[in-house]
Amino acid sequence: MSGDEINIAELVAQAEACRERAYAPYSGYRVGAALLCAGGRIFCGCNVENSSYGLTICAERAAVGAAVSAGERAFCAIAIASDDVPPASPCGACRQVLVEFNPGMLVVTSSPRGGQRRYIARDLLPDYFNLVVPPP
Ligand code: THU
Repeated sequence: MSGDEINIAELVAQAEACRERAYAPYSGYRVGAALLCAGGRIFCGCNVENSSYGLTICAERAAVGAAVSAGERAFCAIAIASDDVPPASPCGACRQVLVEFNPGMLVVTSSPRGGQRRYIARDLLPDYFNLVVPPP
């Protein structure tokens, strides 16, 4: 799916809807993500915090987990919705997880007051770690 075939407004709307389901009682910082697969399916995720703070799952990785668990691996784009200005940008761990599946993935960050920003995943993590596993 090429960039101009992607319905960014729909992807952002789904990320915003999932943000409503965020479990963020400790930070109060709610994030939603919507991940578009090559065949058109969309998987969403929200951040899931824990009283043991380090166990928190970011919205982006929750979306990737949902999609991969459903058998999807070819990802075209992800929308990330927050209420921040500028809109929340994916953390370092999430950047590494996104480039794992598609360094060319479109990344759209969005918030109601902060507008939208667009990136390509590889540009968010220069010289990202890439383990070349030799064939068995
Ligand atoms: N968070 C995300 O969900 N995605 C990011 O890329 C950055 C941070 C969440 C984790 C935590 O629940 C809250 O935002 C504050 O860090």
